[in-house]
This record gives sequence, structure tokens and C-alpha cells, in this order.
Amino acid sequence: MKRIFSGVQPSGNLTIGNYLGAIKQFVQLQHEAEALYCVVDLHALTVPQDPDELRKRSREIARIYLACGVDPQKATIFLQSHVKEHAELGWLLQCATYMGELSRMTQFKDKSSGKSAVHVGLFTYPVLMAADILLYDTTHVPVGEDQKQHIELTRDIAERFNHRYGEVFVIPEAEIQAFGARIMALDDPSKKMSKSAESEASRIAILEPVDVFRKKIMRAVTDTDNEIRFDPERKPGISNLLTIYSLFADEPVESLVERYAGQGYGTLKKDLVEVMSEKLGAIQRRYEQWNDEAELDRILARGAEKARSLAEQTLNRVKDAMGLVRFS
Ligand code: AMP
Ligand code: TRP
Repeated sequence: MKRIFSGVQPSGNLTIGNYLGAIKQFVQLQHEAEALYCVVDLHALTVPQDPDELRKRSREIARIYLACGVDPQKATIFLQSHVKEHAELGWLLQCATYMGELSRMTQFKDKSSGKSAVHVGLFTYPVLMAADILLYDTTHVPVGEDQKQHIELTRDIAERFNHRYGEVFVIPEAEIQAFGARIMALDDPSKKMSKSAESEASRIAILEPVDVFRKKIMRAVTDTDNEIRFDPERKPGISNLLTIYSLFADEPVESLVERYAGQGYGTLKKDLVEVMSEKLGAIQRRYEQWNDEAELDRILARGAEKARSLAEQTLNRVKDAMGLVRFS
């Protein structure tokens, strides 16, 4: 049986990179299998957060899931901290993971480099992520390219655990799109678009009005030869815009390249703004409609209950395997 799990951190304004790389897939996959989509608030605590802001953002992410088309009748939407089994399995798995494995995580190296105060949680974060995934007997994890290494680690931990204790965990696979798994920064197409990057011009938020993002598209870094061609190596800027265009318009890149042949970057950029304004506009209107916090909280409470009932069973299996006493 196919089971989908994924999560997004409430640690900044979600960008079109999050949408195109991950959330758009969440919407498609909910029709194919049982899906759980989590707001990983415990993960956000690995770096300093303002408490009120974190509370606000956690609900906001859930609301964005809904606005993007995740259907609470089909998929389970919940907050990670509402299902205590995540933290509990996280601990148990920390006792089954090596320091060396975590030291190799590139995201940790990036996020900790140059910082004088780094919390332990930032180092052990991939173990919590492994717990998130393994708790639900997940078979497929839709994520962007940057999470690939974390999923590999999850598989390593699960395989080693099964080898030591018997078949306790299902081994998950990353579901990474062949195309669009890495949306690049608009002002520097050699870097990933990130919700936590310093430069505002590098990213576009899902909830950003067209008047704000138009300028960012029009000023997006491209090369000077004004030739529209898809070539991420040599023409990363225009290739990134073509990728974004293709995913928003649901039109293959080849068809875009053909259509814009001989036209300048300006025309393509202007049309891209139109397409994005339509697609993001629809998401933003739905976001406004999901303004009943009590209703949102009911969805999250129901989601947590459902998730808990699945998580409990896995955790019991793990405890039995590891030799913890359980009263029946
Ligand atoms: P995060 O913002 O780190 O919580 O990421 C949430 C999801 O969005 C993960 O699956 C990431 O891999 C994905 N994601 C984040 N940034 C990008 C990007 N620039 N391109 C594609 N996917 C992304
Ligand atoms: N680490 C992921 C990110 O930063 C978020 C995440 C946490 C996640 N737990 C997960 C993604 C489980 C997929 C499955 O993007």
C-alpha cells in the first residue's frame, strides 16, 4: 500500500519554490494514496523563533496547504507538536544514529557555518525528520531536491534498525520531481530560492501580491545574449524562469521555448507575471476564504487524532523491539 508523508517548516514565508517543489505534488498525490501533510513546528525550533510569530505561522502553513488545494477530506493535515510520538520516536532513533552520519548532512553544514551559537537540535534535526516519516509506515515522501540527503539517511537508519531488531519499519522513498525540484533564487540563479535567505529580491512568497512580485520577475538575473533557450548549466537565469513558467502554466518547456523563439526576455518575463498572477491570485483568494480559525483548528485537531492513532501503533512496535517495558 502506498502511503505519503511530507512536512513544511513554519519558519518563514513560503515561497513559490516550496509550492512548485513540494506542495503542488502534495495536491496531486492525495488522489493516489493515503496522505499525511504535517506542519513541522518542532523542526522550526532548531533556530530561534519568536513564540507568537511561530504560533501564527504554524496555522498559516496549514491554511496555505488548504489554499493550494490539499483537501482535508482526503488528506490528513496536522501540526507535528500535536502528536507527541514524533518527539518520542525522535529520541529512540537518536540512539540508533551515529554522530558521523549527522556530521555529513550538508544542510547542517550550511545552516551552522559561521554561527557561534548552534543548538543541538539543529544537529539532530534529520533524526526527527526520520521519525516523522517512519512513524506512518510511509512509502513515498514528496520533497524538493534539497531534502534528498535527509531521506537517504532515513532509509539508512530504518534499514539498520530492521537489521538489528527485525522488520519494524517500512523503508521510504523520496519522491522528487524530475523537473522543478530546485527553483533557484531570482537574483542569483546559482543559489536555491529559500524562504530564509536575506535578500527579498531572491524569492517570491506564495501570498505575495502581484505588485510586489512583478518587479522581482522583471529584474530577475538573466544573461545578456537575449536568447531564450533551456540550458540550466550555461543559462541558469532564463532556464529558471522557464521552469517556473512551465510549472505554473502546466506547459512543457519545449513548447515555451518554441513559442518565445526570437523574442526578448522582457516579453517572456511580462507573460510570466500574468500567468503567476492568475495562479497565485487563485491561491490567495482561497487563502482569504479559509479565515475561520475555529474551523481550521477543528481540521488540525481531527488530523492530529488520525495521525496519533497511526503513530501509536508504530511506536509500540519500536518500543517492543528495543526492549522497553509496556503494560498491556
Ligand atoms: P522548507 O522550506 O525547508 O520547509 O521546505 C519545504 C519543502 O519545500 C521541502 O520539500 C523542500 O525540499 C521544498 N523546497 C524548498 N525550497 C525549494 C526550492 N527552491 N525548490 C524546490 N523545492 C523547494
Ligand atoms: N526537513 C524538511 C525541510 O526543511 C521538513 C521536514 C521535516 C520534512 N520532516 C519531514 C519533509 C518529513 C518531509 C518529510 O524542508
